[in-house]
Parts: sequence; C-alpha cells; structure tokens
Amino acid sequence: MTFSLLAAGAEHGAGTPAWAMLAYLVAGVFFILALRGLSSPATSRTGNRNGMIGMALAVGTTLVTHDIANIVEILIAVGIGGAIGVVVARRIAMTAMPELVAGFHSLVGLAAVVVGFGAWLDPQSFGIIDAMGQIKPESRIELGLGIAIGAITFSGSVIAFLKLSGRMSGSPIMLPGRHVINLGTLAAIIVLIGLYTVSPAGAAGEGWMVIAVALLAFIIGFLLIIPIGGADMPVVVSMLNSYSGWAAAAMGFTLGNTAMIITGALVGSSGAILSYIMCRAMNRSFISVIAGGFGADAGAAGGAGGAREQRPYKQGSAEDAAYMLEQAESVIIIPGYGMAVAQAQHALREMGDKLKEKGVSVKYAIHPVAGRMPGHMNVLLAEASVPYDEVFELEDINSEFAQADVAFIIGANDVVNPAAKTDKSSPIYGMPVFDVDKAKQVFFIKRSMGGVGYAGVDNDVFYMNQTVMLLADAKKMVEEIVKSLD
Ligand code: TAP
Repeated sequence: MTFSLLAAGAEHGAGTPAWAMLAYLVAGVFFILALRGLSSPATSRTGNRNGMIGMALAVGTTLVTHDIANIVEILIAVGIGGAIGVVVARRIAMTAMPELVAGFHSLVGLAAVVVGFGAWLDPQSFGIIDAMGQIKPESRIELGLGIAIGAITFSGSVIAFLKLSGRMSGSPIMLPGRHVINLGTLAAIIVLIGLYTVSPAGAAGEGWMVIAVALLAFIIGFLLIIPIGGADMPVVVSMLNSYSGWAAAAMGFTLGNTAMIITGALVGSSGAILSYIMCRAMNRSFISVIAGGFGADAGAAGGAGGAREQRPYKQGSAEDAAYMLEQAESVIIIPGYGMAVAQAQHALREMGDKLKEKGVSVKYAIHPVAGRMPGHMNVLLAEASVPYDEVFELEDINSEFAQADVAFIIGANDVVNPAAKTDKSSPIYGMPVFDVDKAKQVFFIKRSMGGVGYAGVDNDVFYMNQTVMLLADAKKMVEEIVKSLD
C-alpha cells in the first residue's frame, strides 16, 4: 500500500499540466494566508480554514493529475489516519498540546524517511531515473537529504515527546565529548550523501550508504535532543517543526510536487522564525539550542526545585481581593500555566466584565512563553471571549505596571519572577519578565507556597510588602471573587 501511495505523488514538474501548476500556486497562496491569519487570535480561525482549503486543493490536484495505482487504498489510508487524528485531537488536554505536536512531528519525519526509501527502492515509479535507467545525481542529493532530515526529525521528536510527557526525565543528559560526537556524526552523514551522489550506479556499497545515512541521522536526532533541558523544550518543538518542513520540502523535490516544496519551505522557515523569537523571549542563544544544549548548565531549569527558606508572606481571601479590585482604577491580569490547569479563563472573563461594569480599566498581559506552548494564554482567553483589544504582549504593556493599581497574577510564576533580572545564577536569568513589583498592589493566585513554577525556583514577589497571596485553585478563587463582586 505504501508504494502505491508514494507512487501517487511521483511525477516530475515537466509533466505537470499548466492548470495543476496553477492549482498548486493557489494552494501556496492559501498557505501563506493561513500563516498570516494565525498571527493573531482574532483571525486565527480564518487562518486555519485557509490552511485546510489549501491542503484540500493540493491533495486533490495531486490525486487527479497522477497515475494512481490504487485510489481505494489511498482513501482507506486517509480515512484511518484522519479518524485517528480526530480522536486524538478531541481527547487531548490543552496542557498536553506540546507533546502532541512533538508526536505529530515525529510522524512527518518518519513519512519523509519512508518516501525516501520508497524512491530509492522503486525510482522508476518516482520518475527520478536518467536515460540509463539509474537514479539521477540531483535526485540522489534530494533523497539523501530528505532521509537524513526526516530521520533527525523522527528520533528528535520522539525524545521531545518522551521528555514533555514525563515518560523520560526532563533534565539535560550531557554525554562527555558530545559536541565532537555530534559534529563527527553530522560530517559522516554529509560525506555519505556526497559519496552516494557521485558513486557509479549499482556500485558496491551504494545501498549501505543510504541505510547508513538513515541510521546515523536517527542517532544524531537522539543525541541533539537528550542534552536539552525542560525549559528549552518549547524552542526544540518549534525547531523540530522547522526540520519537519525542510524534510517535506526535500521530499517535494524527489516527488516533483510543487505544492509540497512550497508547504515544506513555509513550515521550515516559519518554524525557524518562531524558534528564534522564542529564544529571544527566553534569553536563550538560538545556536546553543539547535547545537544540542551547547553551553547548557546541567543543573539549570526543568522543574527540579531545591530546598527553600521559610520567609514571611501575607495571605488574603477572595473578599479582600474583591474589595481592593473594585476600588482600583486600573488592573492588569497576568495569566500563566496555572490558569490553564484550573481552566479558570471563563471565570476570569466574568471577573473582568464585573470590574469593567464598575468602571475599572482591565487589561491582560501575555508573556511570550506563559503556559506550555506558544499562544497558550491567547487561545484560552479567546475561548472565553475576552476582547482582543484588552490583551497585550509583554513589550506593549510592561511600562504600564508603574501606573497600575493592581497586578493580578493568576497561575503565572516564572514570567513574573524578578530573579530573571537580578540573579545571574538563576536558570531563568536574562528572560524578560513583567515588572509586577512596580504595581501598587499585587494579588498572586497559586495553590500553595510549596509549589514552584516550571523553572523550579523561588519567587521574591510572594514576599513583597504589596503582595497578597491567594492560595487556592485558580478557578475556585476567581469564582469566589466574582461572587464577592456582586
Ligand atoms: P509556571 O512558571 O509554570 O508557574 C505555574 C504556576 O501555576 C505555579 O506557581 C503553580 O503553583 C500554579 N498553579 C498550577 N496549577 C494551579 C491551579 N490549579 N490553580 C492555581 N495555580 C496553579 O507558569 P508561567 O509563569 O506561565 O511560566 C511558564 C514557564 O513554562 C516558563 O518557565 C517557560 O519557559 C516554560 N515553558 C513555556 C512553554 C511555552 S512555549 N509557553 C513551553 C514549555 C515550558 P502551585 O503548584 O503552587 O499551584
């Protein structure tokens, strides 16, 4: 079945009818519109729809223009894969989204490896042979690169999935001499692809070169991700997303499928840009992360949480908070991972509505890495119908804390931790954080003083003079505040 599926995509550009090229181009435009739409919560649904239209157009065109070996097999495969996708996507909790994404990337990588091997074993069906009946040199490069990038994406994503889902420790695993091993493995892959490209057709060892490329690439994917600590995982997931795009683009060349090249390049470049933006938001060096934890500190980040000294703090009730909130002129709400865990977004929107009715200005401040995936907080607030014009990014709102009456922190921790600005030994040092310490009053919702944020470090904001800790589940606490505001 796999081979008829693969052959279905096989054909080189020269034989593609003009209308099909046009359809692929239109699909490409839909993909670009999809990315544009996804850049803001207000337009993200339209963006998703555009992506689906583009993909339907691209798949439909490929099926119509190619010599399909067995359309029934293809439809059965699409049906099974689609059904599994629908069930998994419906069941998955929002908080487990990063590991789901990592799992899906591993499948894209594996698909690229399978397509590569399919093309290598049956090049005629893929239209990649020359007049002598041998695989063309340029197709050998595409094939080798597709298999290599696909295999790196596969094993890297499997490790990311295991780390994110807690099936494997999130702490960095540092092998001695890992940079030398990584560079050596990478060099061996490049040399093998080069040798495979120039070796005479049918030469002894040709098959082993392709298999060795795949094996070494599987190994380096594994080696690149094991030294990366939990805190850098979001960057890794978007980087693997980028790799999966480049693997698909390389396979698009092998299959002669323009839509696949365009889609792969879009995924590859947008994933790389997202990784770069996230590195900047977390003050990580992009090169360090993609080079496999280069310069990472084995003790840093990942939720370890050492012993903490007991320090005095003030604790308040929902009534105290409601009273202070309705007296305020301006309130800035900072949601974080705990809001997602508690599913407190609807109660929070109700609280915001009540305060606005009382003439209070309410704004939401979103940190680029709040929660556990890019846009996590934006999605939850949008789901609760929080107006988009009340939601602000870090750089647009941080200067307003100095004038705010109340900073209302709900389930956030690392993103408001001043240690990021002052403590060079902290795993979050250098990450830009909200200046909540400048607000006149701070309310901090979390379940207990014992719980730590993702980075596993104490937070001076708990102990500030103007901070009142509201120790409870976020949803329950906000519901009680709403009742007290009535
Ligand atoms: P965190 O630092 O993870 O803090 C979460 C807080 O929520 C903790 O204080 C926790 O304390 C509290 N909490 C948990 N469940 C709660 C509940 N049911 N009710 C009330 N409070 C609850 O969150 P953050 O500030 O959003 O920071 C995100 C962190 O995750 C950053 O370090 C970031 O680098 C990392 N990260 C981000 C991503 C992306 S892309 N966003 C992906 C992976 C990792 P208690 O346990 O005491 O309640």
